[in-house]
Amino acid sequence: MILVTGGAGFIGANFVIGWLDGVDEAVVNVDKLTYAGNLGTLRSLHGDLSHIFVRADICDRETMDVLLAEYQPRAILHFAAESHVDRSIHGPADFVQTNMMGTFTLLEAARHYWSTLPDGEKSTFRFLHVSTDEVFGSLDAGDTPFSERSLYAPNSPYSASKASSDHLVRAWHHTYGLPTLTTHCSNNYGPFQFPEKLVPLMITRALAGDPLPVYGDGKNVRDWLYVGDHCSAIRAILSKGHPGETYNIGGWNEVTNIEVVRTLCDLLDELRPKRTGSYKDQIAWVPDRPGHDRRYAIDARKLEREIGWRPAETFASGLAKTVQWYLDHPHWVGEVASGDYRKWVETHYAKSA
Ligand code: NAD
Ligand code: DAU
Repeated sequence: MILVTGGAGFIGANFVIGWLDGVDEAVVNVDKLTYAGNLGTLRSLHGDLSHIFVRADICDRETMDVLLAEYQPRAILHFAAESHVDRSIHGPADFVQTNMMGTFTLLEAARHYWSTLPDGEKSTFRFLHVSTDEVFGSLDAGDTPFSERSLYAPNSPYSASKASSDHLVRAWHHTYGLPTLTTHCSNNYGPFQFPEKLVPLMITRALAGDPLPVYGDGKNVRDWLYVGDHCSAIRAILSKGHPGETYNIGGWNEVTNIEVVRTLCDLLDELRPKRTGSYKDQIAWVPDRPGHDRRYAIDARKLEREIGWRPAETFASGLAKTVQWYLDHPHWVGEVASGDYRKWVETHYAKSA
């Protein structure tokens, strides 16, 4: 079996659901269930004996040791993290704790467990660390996209904490020989994304008739990838990646924020037209995010060359699926938009409402 951390969050849950749909191998899903983790996301797996959910904190070494000894996974896929840049600006402590200390604790537990494995299992074991393109910092318009050789230059508390975790993973491979794989992915979107992130935030606020808060001049660029493509890349890297290597994952899909928001409005105008006017009328320009990275772009050629992976969705097809999913799942949005979420929105967007 495999052990997944953070499998009640956006990407982790998509990964677990996709894995159990396609592979006959059980998953131990370890998640603390922070505000971003939701069991409702995993409802389709109720009664599936191949899915073992354990509510636990990756910072809890004793529990990580017990879980590894009990379930004997052949791989750990480490998704768990504090993941929202704006929250890291308001309160970086949780990011240092989970992303740095949590990864450290998990690496130590994995190293101890791995050292007890027989030789054959030792060489096939993998610790796959899910990281982000944000560790490479910000690009200007004419700069070449991030490659695996790009220098680290994290700018936010979130990306600095992820960069730190990457360094730990690298060191655990080089010093102790732990067979690690590290992935750097660009911005994901798709079903089950918590509505604090740009795409679901804009869809849910548009439908609620709220202002659509675009930071700064709206010209910051992100490289968007459908979450199902991120998950298929991780599966491919787990099976074909070389220990100690890092792999960039991207959609070859650079879009400005304002283009994303306008495209979402166009899709909603078509699928759920308002009585009068367009959803674009709700666009509201708000002050910029402090330290806002201008542009991310991923060179994913290594992944294509060495692993044979390319994304299946275009931005148009992926975004249309995503908008339709949110239209079809108002109940899920209602469930996750808890008191904590409402408090976050009220505090963070207070000045723009
Ligand atoms: P998310 O915030 O939606 O989910 C994170 C999950 O981790 C939640 O279920 C949460 O309960 C769990 N968690 C948090 N702290 C924990 C702890 N201490 N112990 C156990 N579980 C804990 O995040 P996401 O968007 O699904 O991102 C998953 C991973 O992918 C993260 O490592 C993130 O850095 C990385 N990533 C995300 C994106 C993106 O666009 N969302 C892109 C590239 C990389
Ligand atoms: O690049 C990968 C990263 O993408 C992941 O590592 C992070 O976990 C993930 O959250 C995401 O980070 P971003 O900061 O790029 O995503 P976010 O959805 O928060 O913002 C996307 C862009 O939209 C960014 O330029 C800021 C802008 N934005 C965001 C929000 C929430 C707005 O203009 N208004 C908003 O209200």
